Amino acid sequence: MGPYPHSFSALQLSTMKFSTAAGALFAISSSASTVYGFAPAPSSLTARALTFSSVHSVREPSRRSHIASFSNRRTTISMSAGTFNVGIVGATGAVGKEIVGCLEKRSFPVNGLRIFGSERSAGKEVDTKFGKVTVELFSEEAARECDVVFLAVDGDFSLKHAENICAGDDGPVVIDNSSAFRYKEGIPLCVPEINAETTKGKKLIANPNCTTAIGLMAVWPLHKLFGLTKMVMSTYQAASGAGQPGMDELVEGTRSVLNGERDVAENKIFAHPLPFNVIPHIDKFQENGYTKEEMKVTWETRKICGLADDFPVSCTAVRIPTSRAHSESIVALFEKPVDVAAARKALEEAPGVKLRDDPEKLSYPMPLTATGQYDIEVGRLRKNIAFDNALEFFVCGDQLLRGAALNAVIVAEAMIDNGSLKAKASVESYSPDITPTLMPLPPTCHKSS
Ligand SMILES: NC(=O)c1ccc[n+]([C@@H]2O[C@H](COP(=O)([O-])OP(=O)(O)OC[C@H]3O[C@@H](n4cnc5c(N)ncnc54)[C@H](OP(=O)(O)O)[C@@H]3O)[C@@H](O)[C@H]2O)c1
Repeated sequence: MGPYPHSFSALQLSTMKFSTAAGALFAISSSASTVYGFAPAPSSLTARALTFSSVHSVREPSRRSHIASFSNRRTTISMSAGTFNVGIVGATGAVGKEIVGCLEKRSFPVNGLRIFGSERSAGKEVDTKFGKVTVELFSEEAARECDVVFLAVDGDFSLKHAENICAGDDGPVVIDNSSAFRYKEGIPLCVPEINAETTKGKKLIANPNCTTAIGLMAVWPLHKLFGLTKMVMSTYQAASGAGQPGMDELVEGTRSVLNGERDVAENKIFAHPLPFNVIPHIDKFQENGYTKEEMKVTWETRKICGLADDFPVSCTAVRIPTSRAHSESIVALFEKPVDVAAARKALEEAPGVKLRDDPEKLSYPMPLTATGQYDIEVGRLRKNIAFDNALEFFVCGDQLLRGAALNAVIVAEAMIDNGSLKAKASVESYSPDITPTLMPLPPTCHKSS
């Protein structure tokens, strides 16, 4: 499956321009391909609120917004487009950086991008396709000026600030990557391909735990087909699940062992040295012997899929010395007898899923092939021989994308589509005085992989 190149199907060929104070991001797309690029803005544009337009709106310049629709090859979400002032808190971190990348690659209609950080990064400049952005010291007041704010900090930060940022009719939509609000009643926990409708009319949305989001992308189509009754998952999770510091500890630790400085790497982030090791411990141990990471899979599967509060899901979460993309071995038990061919077809047709399942050609999901991809990979699909009506399969997904940044950006797109995310700034019509330079989309956005 392809990783969601937008095909603006409302227009056979559309030219869109998103100009910011610093420049214009544009996309030219047809149903077959999309190219986009960034052009520095002429000074005459720098003081303007933005422009989002298309061939359609050039013909009808009085229109203040237009209906575009984009597809991820199998699902089509129609979007009442305006342009949006977007804020990201934590864009110097592992998830935040990817949010910037997803906004760029998906041609999210950005009017202006503001990046907020702590004193550690305030004042630094970040190069984006929307222009150079100077990191601002976070304040609730500044964040409230945006239309949508992505939080990519920790749970304590979100608990303190998220509700204040989105409070009132004039507060922006907040999409939070931490676990702070995931289990709070009334706050949607959203994987858009499963439960986008829960975001309608809401201001604060929780983005799910990365392991859960990746696994459910594969489990959901099978649940719709056969009716899930139980799930057992074992995970193999990358160092970057612990953020940039986790990635750094793996790289530095591996280097220190390989160059003979140390016999065993140092550890600060992980409970034990991660290089040349696996650690069956992620997050805090709970009274029932599971870790919090494991219980997140249980709690979040129930909430996202609308299952009973006691629905049986069990997980063992293990950290392994890979850099990026989580892997999961899943045994799913179903109400109905399973049919592998039907399961395969459902997975092939599921948005955001790539079936990589040709063992004879040594083709199956792996972190190396899933890294940087928008689709999660599913393979090693087989009838489980220990249980009735059960399928066993292996899933890999880029947890910084599907498990965080990409999911969050698709949530925002779904909220544009259902009218819950609205632009405060007025939208001007097309400005023909920009000569954009075309740039091909990165390969990961074109092809299914
Ligand atoms: N890593 C994953 O795979 C993953 C997956 C799903 C969800 N998540 C969740 O996403 C969130 C971010 O995780 P991460 O892995 O990206 O962490 P990270 O790499 O450690 O980044 C944390 C970010 O938070 C910023 N920050 C810290 N304190 C701040 C403050 N007081 N004000 C403003 N910004 C502040 C940091 O910016 P400064 O440099 O300016 O301090 C940094 O950009 C966490 O809640 C995590 O649980 C992570």
